[in-house]
Amino acid sequence: MQTSRRSFIRSASAVGALAALPGSVLAQGVASKPLDILILGGTGFIGPHEINYARARGHKITMFNRGKTAPGMFRDLETLIGDRDDQLDSLKGRDWDAVIDNSGFYPRHTRLSAELLHGHVDTYMFVSSISAYADSLTLDDDEFSAAYAVMDDPSDESESIYGPTYGARKALCEQEVTRVFGDKAINIRPGIITGTGDPTGRLRHWLVRMQIGNEILVPGQEDLPVQYIDASDLCGWMVRMLEDGGSGPYNAVGAEEPYRARPLLEGLRDATGSKSTLTWIDWEWIRQEVADIPSYGPWYGQGPIPFMQVNNDRALATGLTFRPIEDTAKDMIAMLDQRSVSQFGRGGFDPKTEAALLKKWHSSRHR
Ligand SMILES: NC(=O)c1ccc[n+]([C@@H]2O[C@H](COP(=O)([O-])OP(=O)(O)OC[C@H]3O[C@@H](n4cnc5c(N)ncnc54)[C@H](OP(=O)(O)O)[C@@H]3O)[C@@H](O)[C@H]2O)c1
Repeated sequence: MQTSRRSFIRSASAVGALAALPGSVLAQGVASKPLDILILGGTGFIGPHEINYARARGHKITMFNRGKTAPGMFRDLETLIGDRDDQLDSLKGRDWDAVIDNSGFYPRHTRLSAELLHGHVDTYMFVSSISAYADSLTLDDDEFSAAYAVMDDPSDESESIYGPTYGARKALCEQEVTRVFGDKAINIRPGIITGTGDPTGRLRHWLVRMQIGNEILVPGQEDLPVQYIDASDLCGWMVRMLEDGGSGPYNAVGAEEPYRARPLLEGLRDATGSKSTLTWIDWEWIRQEVADIPSYGPWYGQGPIPFMQVNNDRALATGLTFRPIEDTAKDMIAMLDQRSVSQFGRGGFDPKTEAALLKKWHSSRHR
């Protein structure tokens, strides 16, 4: 059921005291059987959420990475240094109960780690993406009926990790994991992940913009469906899935029903205490006015609408739950002072362009 604006506000104030805690600390109890978990990655955006939650549940963590990203983040954890690109020696001769693969972006890299770890870990959880689906995705599709994105040359590694064939490569990585691990493969397909540490402006843009106040330009339709998942909700569920023994693919998108743009933004505005006003401007009108459209996340207009209405029944049935988006917002607001607000949270138009567009839009309405 879609969360109403009123329930946003009620739940936000009820958990106000808890919202001060990092979400990942809110693990509910200790697991009945502690697991040895290997994390490929761990120091990026979602890795810390996985690690904090898993440790709170009593699991033991080993990380594997190059030592480039936030090297001092978990000084008390064992870190095996190596590279997905065929430098896996530090993984040899070791056994774990499960692996979470955050850093697989090329099928060859994923094949190498899956083959090396086979027989040394019971379960291989691969973090894929809903981008693994072809553009033909429909509202009726689930994990098993949807077609996958494809690329001309599956061995092509010339693109950067998030380049245009990102989704097709994720689909191929999934196939490698499933080929090697069979029903012990778990492929997690998140949509837009946000929350503490989100390096993008996809939600932060709105929070920063609302703190600045005044009239805010919102592109697109008021009832645009939007799916966000908090990294803490995602990662807590992933760890519980390792405890409970999931298998196969799972769309990991939130919430139970997609939010709609207007109640979502009004809820965020309440959470920030902002007195700003929202002015909705037709997307096509904006496109005619400006050639260089910035990233607005789901407001960007990228991809067909079903990408923001992906079926999450399978994940819900295995215990994926969602905190109110206001709680996510409050966690992120607590971090905003540490970041520059000068670019509107890295997303959306720069202040001058926004003001000019608003002025032109209003005058076009009054002609
Ligand atoms: N953010 C989203 O909205 C979203 C949505 C859908 C799916 N996903 C997926 O979620 C996963 C995690 O995303 P994230 O943003 O948390 O990732 P991230 O921040 O980029 O984390 C990457 C981690 O992997 C390590 N790493 C990177 N390249 C490596 C290499 N060649 N060899 C060994 N280790 C390497 C990094 O450490 P070093 O640099 O020290 O090696 C770091 O610890 C990704 O697979 C992404 O596709 C994200």
